[in-house]
Amino acid sequence: MGLREKCPILHFGDLGDERGKLVVIEGEEDIPFEIKRVFYIYESDDTVVRGQHANRESEFVLINVAGTSKVRITDGKEEFVVELNQPMMGVYIPKMIWKDMYDFSRDSILLVLASTHYDGNEYIREYEDYLKEVSE
Ligand code: TYD
Repeated sequence: MGLREKCPILHFGDLGDERGKLVVIEGEEDIPFEIKRVFYIYESDDTVVRGQHANRESEFVLINVAGTSKVRITDGKEEFVVELNQPMMGVYIPKMIWKDMYDFSRDSILLVLASTHYDGNEYIREYEDYLKEVSE
């Protein structure tokens, strides 16, 4: 399976009406895991790069609920960039995939849904270490 198939772009339904938009994301239905944790990143800008890690245990879905950002995704062999620019779209990132988030618009609010509670020990923060672990 290619990297793009492993990390699909997800399009969520809009239940909006004349009162405004409404997007619903149900764990294990609209995304492939049960949601254990939610965090969001804002007041980043186009000078910072976040992420820069892979996770041994966690799966994620990233959604720009406001503004835009880019995610560079790699498995050490292939690489692609997703621009998150609509509240109705997300990208699924499985375990052991390296990601960098960057080019945040000033109004960017990047919502992250995660399959685990936080555990700093499951993060791989050195790219060299990541390459070694994925090649094992
Ligand atoms: P970091 O991993 O650098 O964030 P990002 O993935 O956005 O680049 O996390 C910054 C700090 O916050 C770091 O000290 C770990 C802590 N943190 C938690 O305690 N819980 C969490 O769920 C996350 C994502 C981070």
